[in-house]
Amino acid sequence: MKDKTLLFQSALQCRNNAYAPYSEFKVGAAIKSSCGKIFGGCNVENISYPCGTCAEAGAISALIADGETAIAEILIVADTANILPCGNCLQKIAEFGTPDTLVHSADLNGNIKTYTLKQLLPNVFDAKEIKNA
Ligand code: THU
Repeated sequence: MKDKTLLFQSALQCRNNAYAPYSEFKVGAAIKSSCGKIFGGCNVENISYPCGTCAEAGAISALIADGETAIAEILIVADTANILPCGNCLQKIAEFGTPDTLVHSADLNGNIKTYTLKQLLPNVFDAKEIKNA
């Protein structure tokens, strides 16, 4: 519970800095690593629309840049009742998580719904699909 509050606060703070002038849909994300550290990110859009990045991607970059590689939990917050990571982000989360990694979805009031990664991405593309990976 306490962890979720910290994740929520961190993601909300990041969301305040989101750069989303085109969609006007600000998203914040916060990851708790397996070591217990928290890493945040926000969406960063671009006038060349496909260049934009999701909040989850920002948080994952911060995790990796700090030398960590394991996502224990991730929380995403937006101005909607049940924001869920897009398919692209689920695949990114899967790279550094496990099927049991918790994915929390929060609205701006701190109402949180919790899923496991395997609920959201039951059939992940993973290393066993590639020989020598
Ligand atoms: N967005 C995220 O940051 N995370 C998601 O999981 C879904 C979508 C962003 C991308 C874009 O900047 C805006 O939300 C509208 O799609």
